[in-house]
Amino acid sequence: MKILVATQKPFAKVAVDGIKEIVEKAGHEFALLEKYEQTSELLAAVADADALIVRSDKVTAEVVAAAPKLKIVVRAGAGFDNLDLPACTAHGIVAMNTPGQNSNAVAELAIAMMIFMSRCQFTPATGTEVQGKTLGIQAFGNVGRLVGKKAEALGMKVKAIDPFIPADAIKAAGAEPAASLEELYSTSDFVSVHIPATPETIKSIGYDLVSKMPKGATLVNTARKEVIDEAGLEKALEERPDLKYVTDVAPDNLAALQEKFGLRVFATPKKMGAQTSEANVNAGLAAARQIVDFFATGNTRFKLN
Ligand code: 3PG
Repeated sequence: MKILVATQKPFAKVAVDGIKEIVEKAGHEFALLEKYEQTSELLAAVADADALIVRSDKVTAEVVAAAPKLKIVVRAGAGFDNLDLPACTAHGIVAMNTPGQNSNAVAELAIAMMIFMSRCQFTPATGTEVQGKTLGIQAFGNVGRLVGKKAEALGMKVKAIDPFIPADAIKAAGAEPAASLEELYSTSDFVSVHIPATPETIKSIGYDLVSKMPKGATLVNTARKEVIDEAGLEKALEERPDLKYVTDVAPDNLAALQEKFGLRVFATPKKMGAQTSEANVNAGLAAARQIVDFFATGNTRFKLN
């Protein structure tokens, strides 16, 4: 079987080497398409692929249609909003992700971003400390829990909310359950967002929630830009000169935000939450193993469709 790794944002070399080794040891053929700029390059590369490993690369109906031999696609990572699941299903393609594999990298970035903003983007301006402050975690999955543990070690009070995790389980994991999103936002000096981009969550964080945050609060987004209602956020930042926004997923209105709000807003130039060699190895090798196992035994653990 031909297993293609197609990544616009490449994995670290150590991860690519590890994927190749797993694929070839199992008797499959390894192919690599990195840093491609045109969809046409991806369409050409998938033409004879039996399996596909991607990161945030978009696997659209067009890509699926161009890959007549494709049997499995694995998103090496957690969020799978880049996969057209109905198109995969229609073509009999199994789609999977690798949950948890890059969570620590994202959690470390969320903590780093909090401190970066508290210390005025590492300028000499007088900042604040995170110790003693309250962190609200929106969605308490793999990343949210790790952020909570790290924040606790920094002396922060940790609150969390998750529509799929009961309050008792949040408590057992060491955080104080918030009764509602409104309560989380209105009582947290930092809110760290860890929700996926779904039809229900897209544009769900906007003026109403952000403007409820306490004085000097910071919204930290290492999830997806789509979950933010950018116009609502802009309005809240305009009305409240004490609020800050930091994001690993540059908003469409970044230029306007930065011009208006200067050091109160920061966005990474390219999504980098999972961009560590450890996360690349964890997620990339997990993806390769899942594919090899699928071809050997039919194992469909982590199937999304
Ligand atoms: C994820 O959903 O796993 C992260 O957003 C990582 O995305 P990336 O592989 O494009 O860095």
